[in-house]
Amino acid sequence: MQKCPPPQNGLFSQGLCREQDKLSIYVVDQVGDIQSNHGTVLNGAGEDMEKKIVLVTGAASGMGAATARLFAGAGATIIAVDLNEAGLNDAAADFGAAFCLTGDVSDSGFCNHCIEETVKRFGRIDILVNAAGIIRRSDAAGTSDDDWRRVMAVNVDGVFFMSRAGVAVMKEQQSGTIINFGSIWGGIGAAGTLAYCASKGAVHQITRAMALDHAPDGIRINAVCPGEVNTPMLASERDAPPTQADLQALADATIPMKRLAEPEEVARVVLFLASDDASYMTGALVPVDAGYTAR
Ligand SMILES: NC(=O)c1ccc[n+]([C@@H]2O[C@H](COP(=O)([O-])OP(=O)(O)OC[C@H]3O[C@@H](n4cnc5c(N)ncnc54)[C@H](O)[C@@H]3O)[C@@H](O)[C@H]2O)c1
Repeated sequence: MQKCPPPQNGLFSQGLCREQDKLSIYVVDQVGDIQSNHGTVLNGAGEDMEKKIVLVTGAASGMGAATARLFAGAGATIIAVDLNEAGLNDAAADFGAAFCLTGDVSDSGFCNHCIEETVKRFGRIDILVNAAGIIRRSDAAGTSDDDWRRVMAVNVDGVFFMSRAGVAVMKEQQSGTIINFGSIWGGIGAAGTLAYCASKGAVHQITRAMALDHAPDGIRINAVCPGEVNTPMLASERDAPPTQADLQALADATIPMKRLAEPEEVARVVLFLASDDASYMTGALVPVDAGYTAR
């Protein structure tokens, strides 16, 4: 069995192996044995990432971290951005970032700084991935002014501020691509997550409107719309964290494929959308949801 570097913490970790120039997604146990392989990344998508300058927000955790790891494994230069400094440093040590910027994407000054710093160091930005996001779990009556404003500030303002700064540089370059994190809840409703649903609907419309504005500039802007993904967000903002049995019951009851997604399965779609393989795609909201919204 092939050996990979064992994970530093926990029993299992996920990552990339480069084998005969093919990138594979693997799950590895504590002694470095590969326990499962989620398949090979598209060769084309991997190849054209060499030397790309990629800024990823929300890179400390979940799908942002998985995306940064996948792009880094494909040879891209990663600028990793997150509010959680300790988490960002740990994650970046794992996937190997060119540099990290700690701050809040709801602050337009910070977003401008991230793009300026990227251009100062590398002369351009090729790919912007807006993965940072938060959730609150309540209906209208249970949503305070502060909760409403915070969800909108991070999920909507954050995507807008970062994209506005990024697209200004991409327009000068006449090239570049942005991938936003929407959600199934941006297209269909969910009970008990009002502010989150509203915010993701806005992300979908930012994606479409900006794609139309910037198609003539050679800039493609798309969104992934994940279903239920196995990240810390799934357990956040609940009275008690769900058990494995709770999550499987949720999957059995609601997901046609009857399992949650692993973050890497969404990251692979982000990599595809960022690659030349997706050269004729802009303004698309791509479901990565095991058939959740096919009904
Ligand atoms: N997990 C899911 O089931 C799911 C489903 C659909 C969409 N999404 C979306 O995918 C994206 C990634 O989510 P995840 O599940 O990986 O979550 P996660 O909680 O694992 O990671 C989110 C990251 O965003 C960072 N962040 C939060 N607020 C920030 C801020 N103001 N500025 C900078 N960074 C900030 C956090 O520190 C964290 O590292 C989010 O936009 C989320 O809404 C998640």
